[in-house]
Formats: sequence, structure tokens, C-alpha cells
Amino acid sequence: MEQTDYFQIINKYIEPGSKTYSIYLPHVTLVTTKALKIAQKLNLSEKQLRFIEEAGMLHDIGIVRVKDEYFECAGKLPYICHLSEGAKILESEGLPKHARVAERHAGVGIFKWQIEQQKLLLPPKDYVPETIEEKIIGWSDIFFSKTPRNLFRERSQEEARTVIAKFGKENEKIFDEWQKEFE
Ligand SMILES: [Fe+2]
Repeated sequence: MEQTDYFQIINKYIEPGSKTYSIYLPHVTLVTTKALKIAQKLNLSEKQLRFIEEAGMLHDIGIVRVKDEYFECAGKLPYICHLSEGAKILESEGLPKHARVAERHAGVGIFKWQIEQQKLLLPPKDYVPETIEEKIIGWSDIFFSKTPRNLFRERSQEEARTVIAKFGKENEKIFDEWQKEFE
């Protein structure tokens, strides 16, 4: 089974010991741990589990290119661009499957019409998880914030639903479907 040394990639883009690193690492570890638990419960294969581990640990790598005060990211782009930038980084590392996870992990996904309506600075298309691995990582990410104060606190199902419901009925419906599937 081909494996990716995700720590080598994390350390290449985020300086070990930096504030960004101290937030990035716990966040992606918590999300990946939750995702792997779900994947095991659903009896996914060893290969799928390994992919979830790698893609989970890399899913937020795009934050290095955005401007964010909490985790002291020195980039210039707005936060939402961590999706598209993460995908660019992972594609440049020869990881197109992992890149899809980075691009599609926000909430239950972002639809093209939402990008247009909210004038989000993302190239307009659907950023919606399609594979089971993409969905499980997206789902797990809903439960963890990257704000330092709440870094280790897992949201309840109700809190997570409230976060997603803010994005509209369509997102709410997907949340309910995924909840049945994964919890
Ligand atoms: Fe995340």
C-alpha cells in the first residue's frame, strides 16, 4: 500500500514550534481520530483507513496561505481560501485525492450557488464531499473548532447541527443524512 509521509508535508509548510503549528496539529489530530473511529465502525478497508489518516492530517494545510489572527497565519487571502489553497498545495505534492478532501471539507460542503450568492472568493463550483472518505472527514471536522479556547472541545450533535443549519436548508438536510449514516 502506497503511503504518504504526511508529517513531512505538514513540517514543510508549517514551521514546527510556531503558533500555527500548535493549533494545526491538535485540530487535525482530533478530526482524524474521530474520522477513523467512524470509518472503523463502518468496516472500511485498511487502505481506506490509511487514506483517512493521511487526508485528515492534511485537510487544513491551506490555512498557511490565509490571513488569520488566531493562528497567526501570515498569508494574505481570506479564510475561506484555505479550501482552494489547500487543494493547490496537495496537488503540487502529487496528492490529487488528498487535495479533494482539502477542497471539500468545509461543513457538509459548499454549493456553487452559495459561492455566487455570498460572493465567496472561491473559483465557482460545488465543493461538496462525494466519496465516503471525503464525507467522513468533512463530518468529523464539523465537531472541532480551530479557535485556541475551544480547540479540544468536541461539539455536541446539537451544536454541530446549529453550525450547519446556518448555511441553509440544503446543508441542514445533508447534516441529518450524514448523522444517520455516521453516528
Ligand atoms: Fe478542519
